[in-house]
Amino acid sequence: MLFATGDTHGDFDRFKPENFFEAEEITRDDYVLICGDFGGVWSGSSKESKILDWLENMPFTTLFVDGNHENFELLYSLPEMAWKGGRVHIVRPHILHLMRGQVYEIEGRRFFTMGGARSHDIQDGILDPKSPTFKEDYQALRMMYGMFRVKGVSWWSEELPSKDEYAEAWRNLESMNFSVDFVISHCCPTSIQGLIDPHYKRDDLTDFLDEVRERTSFDQWLFGHYHDNKRFYTNYTLLYEQIVQVL
Ligand SMILES: [Fe+2]
Repeated sequence: MLFATGDTHGDFDRFKPENFFEAEEITRDDYVLICGDFGGVWSGSSKESKILDWLENMPFTTLFVDGNHENFELLYSLPEMAWKGGRVHIVRPHILHLMRGQVYEIEGRRFFTMGGARSHDIQDGILDPKSPTFKEDYQALRMMYGMFRVKGVSWWSEELPSKDEYAEAWRNLESMNFSVDFVISHCCPTSIQGLIDPHYKRDDLTDFLDEVRERTSFDQWLFGHYHDNKRFYTNYTLLYEQIVQVL
């Protein structure tokens, strides 16, 4: 079995047995896939480590693509290994980060993964702790309840993919003759994003995903990021707190 859900932001209550009844029959060979904003690798604190240990002790294997709200410095420092045809970071033996631009074969199906997204909650800016006016700027924005984040503390430029990650994605899709069963991402193609809310701005990643959409055949595309549960056309599913069975 493979289940999918949307952003968890470090809160895994939805996987508690009382909320996730299907877990009763689930094993380590079954998967729960989070479509970005996993958020479990964030502060590196001992409290966070205990939460990850709890998730590791769940009877299933947790998979996730990264979103925009991840601590990329910590995430990219984790050990890497080859897994089912792609590369993963190992958070725990049964918690794996599915890296960008990979194709995995899981239960006989091909999954193309492309995490990352541009943050929406930075309208008032990104503060740099190295700036001489950082303290004043920070206090001013706090006072006005500003929507801002701090570089290297709550925001990382790696939220959007690098040129190398895009290039690797195209190489891997080409090696699959541009044919997969599932696409898993955090944000979605520009054309689908416009259906969610026309105010969302396009960026390099949503444009890239639109190109993937045009060039690749797939059965289902699952994504998160927009904090809603909705389906578009027959094969684009936006997930938030809902858990759906995919396989
Ligand atoms: Fe999110």
